[in-house]
Amino acid sequence: MITEKELNQKFAAETPENFLRFLLHEFGNKIALSSSLGPEDQVLTDMILKINKNATIFTLDTGRLFPETYSLLDKTNMHYGINIRVYFPDFQKVEEMVSSKGINLFYESIEKRKLCCRIRKLDPLSRAFSEIDAWICGLRKEQSITRQDMKLVEWDQNSNMLKINPLINWTEKEVWNYIHKYQVPYNKLHNEGFPSIGCQPCTRAVKNGEDTRSGRWWWENPEHRECGLHRK
Ligand code: ADX
Ligand code: SF4
Repeated sequence: MITEKELNQKFAAETPENFLRFLLHEFGNKIALSSSLGPEDQVLTDMILKINKNATIFTLDTGRLFPETYSLLDKTNMHYGINIRVYFPDFQKVEEMVSSKGINLFYESIEKRKLCCRIRKLDPLSRAFSEIDAWICGLRKEQSITRQDMKLVEWDQNSNMLKINPLINWTEKEVWNYIHKYQVPYNKLHNEGFPSIGCQPCTRAVKNGEDTRSGRWWWENPEHRECGLHRK
C-alpha cells in the first residue's frame, strides 16, 4: 500500500480535486469523508460527489447540534440527491452521563467536557472507522494554533489509518470562493458571525477580527480547544 510519505510527496502540488480523484479510485468504498457540514466539508462534499456520486460521507450527530446544522444536513442531501450517513451516540451512555453529571456538564471542567465529546463524538466515530481504511477531513492549518503542524496526509495513530486533509493549505478565502462559485449549500449561521460551528452549547459567535475558532469552547484555553477527533 502507498505510504503517507509517498502520498505527501506525490500530491503536494496537486489540486484537491485531483488528489481526491486518485484517493476515490485507490480506496473505492473504503474511504469516507467525515463531515461536520462546515464550509470546508461542504467544499469537499461537492468535489467528491462530482467525482463519484456514490462516495461515502458521514456525519456525527451529537444530539446537541444547531437547528441550522440539521437543516443544512437535509438541504445537502436534497441538493445532491444523497443520504449522508448519520452516526448517533449510544443512548445508554448519554443517559448515564447526563443523569449523573448534568445536561450541560461540559462547562464545569475540561474532564467533563472531554467525557461529553468522547461519548457524543469519539465513540460514534470509532463505529464509523470500522467500515473504512482511510478518512478524509476538512482540516486547514490556518484554523488554529493546534493545527499548524498538520499535513496533507497523516498516519492517524488513534484510528490506525490514513487521515487525509485535502484542504490543509487552503485559506478561508479560497474555501468561500469555491462555495460561491459552485453555489454549494452552507450553514446560514456563517452569515451571523459563526465562522466555526460545532455543538450549539459549545459554540458562540465571534467578533470581527477574532480568531476563527475562538467561539468554540470559548471558556477554555486555546490549546485545549479540540474535541479529541484530531488529537495526536
Ligand atoms: S472539531 O474537532 O473542533 O469539532 P472542526 O469543527 O474544526 O473540528 O472540524 C474539523 C474536521 O473534523 C471537519 O472538517 C470534519 O472532517 C471533522 N468533524 C468535526 N466534527 C464532525 C462531526 N460532527 N461529524 C463528522 N466529522 C466531523
Ligand atoms: Fe458535548 Fe460540547 Fe463536545 Fe458537543 S462539543 S460533544 S456538547 S462537550
